Amino acid sequence: MQTKKTIAVIGAGGNMGSAISRSVSKGAYRLLLKGDSQEQLDALVKEIQTTTPGADVEAAACATDASWEADIIILAVPYQAEKEIAEKIRQVANQKIVISIANPLNETYDGLVTEPGTSAAEELQRLLPNAKVIKAFNTTFAADFNSPSISGKQVDAFVAGNDEEAVKTVSELVKTAGFNPIAAGELAVSRTLESMQLLLIRLGMKYNYNWLAGWKILHN
Ligand SMILES: NC(=O)c1ccc[n+]([C@@H]2O[C@H](COP(=O)([O-])OP(=O)(O)OC[C@H]3O[C@@H](n4cnc5c(N)ncnc54)[C@H](OP(=O)(O)O)[C@@H]3O)[C@@H](O)[C@H]2O)c1
Repeated sequence: MQTKKTIAVIGAGGNMGSAISRSVSKGAYRLLLKGDSQEQLDALVKEIQTTTPGADVEAAACATDASWEADIIILAVPYQAEKEIAEKIRQVANQKIVISIANPLNETYDGLVTEPGTSAAEELQRLLPNAKVIKAFNTTFAADFNSPSISGKQVDAFVAGNDEEAVKTVSELVKTAGFNPIAAGELAVSRTLESMQLLLIRLGMKYNYNWLAGWKILHN
């Protein structure tokens, strides 16, 4: 029997953190949820336990302790907060999977703040040199998690990273959340994935997609 993997979700009270937590709680994972508001986290834990009986989920008091216990760490925080959190978890994230979901948008949502030739995920890998940073969930909107199928088609979710085994593990997680995982390549592909989401955000604003939109690769 496979052992249950433990996932620490940092920023679990936010839009993405709570959406990811709700959806992956349906799988064989143990979830440790860390957020700033204990009240909000307790309510989320209760909600998950009610909607998904048997879910293994609890609130965590500290990002470092939760990450120490975890096999997979999800940073569901703004790009600007990643440096501070990376410093807190650097020692305990060694050899672990750290998922970068961030889109490093500027304040006006019409550009990225990262320099050309890099990405939020690669920046995070630089801050956590001994972790296995994987890009995932950056091209799926929080609202998509309620219904990972749009117009009858299962939304694709791209996974990128330099460690093949870690990409496979995260692809399983993406599948549990209801999306169709596509292993998109090495971590540097995050540059494209983060730009893709900037485009989708721009299109969503222009055509009023109501934050319910996603990517689907059509192929034979
Ligand atoms: N929203 C989407 O549809 C979407 C889609 C794809 C990717 N993303 C990416 O997902 C990430 C989170 O976005 P979101 O929309 O979920 O944002 P959000 O709703 O504002 O949630 C962000 C969370 O991060 C926490 N946080 C902020 N600064 C922190 C710090 N210094 N230390 C610890 N926790 C901190 C916040 O806690 P407090 O509220 O207590 O401050 C909050 O729980 C971003 O990187 C974004 O680019 C978002």
